[in-house]
Amino acid sequence: MHPALPPQSLIEVRTGLGWDSHRTAPGRPLILAGVAIEADFGLEGHSDADVLAHAVTDALLGAAALGDIGMHFPDTDAQWKGADSLQFLHHSVHLVHLAGLEISNVDATVILERPKLKTYRTAIRESLATSLGIPVDRVSVKFKTAENVGPVGQGLSAEAQAVATLIRRAPR
Ligand code: C5P
Ligand code: MG
Repeated sequence: MHPALPPQSLIEVRTGLGWDSHRTAPGRPLILAGVAIEADFGLEGHSDADVLAHAVTDALLGAAALGDIGMHFPDTDAQWKGADSLQFLHHSVHLVHLAGLEISNVDATVILERPKLKTYRTAIRESLATSLGIPVDRVSVKFKTAENVGPVGQGLSAEAQAVATLIRRAPR
């Protein structure tokens, strides 16, 4: 239990799971949680294809049982073409707050064969923390290769997974 959170004030804890995948493509940007990654390829998608922002958005929506990213931002809608996916994340944070919930922490994994991402860890955590409105010590991001196996391992796609924990405090 976090010391700032007396047990009697906590009336609900909810966990949500998010997952996303995008194809790699030349001439596209590679953006993870709003951070531009230097690479000779990017990710394909209707929006900016920010696979990590999409997974975290779905984790939040899942924890709040508020549907999924495609329900709120259909990829058939022209207004989301090339969209900055942080706006999807901001909207899901807003919905979480409207539901009377607070974000306790988020943990995520990006699976990408190359480039190495660890030098971007601080920037990505800070960007997510800002979007989520929580301290950076409550935001974690990990990076994995797929060991050359499958579409991710062959560099054809990138994946991201995320879990979010939401809390509800007792009314004062
Ligand atoms: O996938 P693998 O177990 O080989 O990854 C080892 C480490 O390499 C990870 O824990 C992570 O720190 C780093 N990594 C990275 N960028 C990637 C994949 C892995 O920085 N795209
Ligand atoms: Mg996506």
